[in-house]
Amino acid sequence: MSIISGKTVLLTGASRGIGVFIARALAKEKATVVGVARSQQGLDRVSAEVKALGGHWLGITSDISDINSLPSLVEQINQLVGPIDILINNAGIEIYRPFQDYSSADLQSVLSTNLLAAMELSRLVLPTMLRQGSGHIVNIASLAAKKGPAYNSIYSASKAGMFMWSDAVRQELAGTGVEISVICPGYVSEQGMSADSGVAIPSSSGSSTPTDVAIATIQAIKQNQPEVIVNQDAISEAITKLLLALWEIFPLFGDKVNQWIGVTKLNKIRAENQTPIAFQPSESRTMVIATPNGRISKEKNQ
Ligand SMILES: NC(=O)c1ccc[n+]([C@@H]2O[C@H](COP(=O)([O-])OP(=O)(O)OC[C@H]3O[C@@H](n4cnc5c(N)ncnc54)[C@H](OP(=O)(O)O)[C@@H]3O)[C@@H](O)[C@H]2O)c1
Repeated sequence: MSIISGKTVLLTGASRGIGVFIARALAKEKATVVGVARSQQGLDRVSAEVKALGGHWLGITSDISDINSLPSLVEQINQLVGPIDILINNAGIEIYRPFQDYSSADLQSVLSTNLLAAMELSRLVLPTMLRQGSGHIVNIASLAAKKGPAYNSIYSASKAGMFMWSDAVRQELAGTGVEISVICPGYVSEQGMSADSGVAIPSSSGSSTPTDVAIATIQAIKQNQPEVIVNQDAISEAITKLLLALWEIFPLFGDKVNQWIGVTKLNKIRAENQTPIAFQPSESRTMVIATPNGRISKEKNQ
């Protein structure tokens, strides 16, 4: 899809981190951004920025891990701003633990937020995109989709699932005018889940910035790129691709590299320090829709 201007974009995870940078980039392209997240405050902050940059904005608070609520979310968006032209599955969470210490709720929470919600939203928007003969889905995965980092195994599984699901669907969509891209950043500095963790990112891991991820997302849409590895520069990107190819053949070499560059140690520290992530359930039970003309607030169907 070469032109984003005037398109309606559903962006999950729009309240903070990388999502804010993607929202700004979409606003500069003059898109209508439908930002979804659980935090009303976060969405309100982004709303002001998007409008100041010339984009149109609709913020909807919704807990996307509640998969059964997604059909009504998409229906509401269709009614308020029309069909979704571009879906960016960006919302994600991670929980660090030795695998045996994960609770069943941890597994469900990470897989629902990172993978099942992205699949369900895509399933819901695809029929209209196919009818229109145009549309683009962007899945924000991770390098963890390509090499599993220790103590973050469920996250890695969710991102690998997202990667392979995108790979298969791209082949189904060939020739339909509907496109799908998967974006794989490594560690992202400045803002987002890695930067906000308070633990130093290994310097030799070739991190990128949230701006790099936003630029990669816009380029992937405009140039219909199937897979994008986001890195700080072309040389780091080439080294990452070479290492990934080598790890396919020699997986134990990949394990060693993760130890040498400090990823395994870092994740162990995170697993030891991580307290369960909790979100105010009262906030996720209420769906609040902020429109340019005011705010409609109502209880979500349980
Ligand atoms: N940062 C990195 O180093 C890095 C590297 C590779 C890939 N990524 C991927 O990039 C994406 C964005 O990450 P980030 O670093 O920006 O993370 P972040 O700063 O933690 O932001 C995550 C976003 O997802 C939203 N979210 C989480 N759970 C949700 C739920 N149940 N329902 C609705 N929204 C939810 C959050 O909003 P609320 O809390 O308001 O709901 C927030 O807007 C993720 O998919 C992540 O896996 C990040």
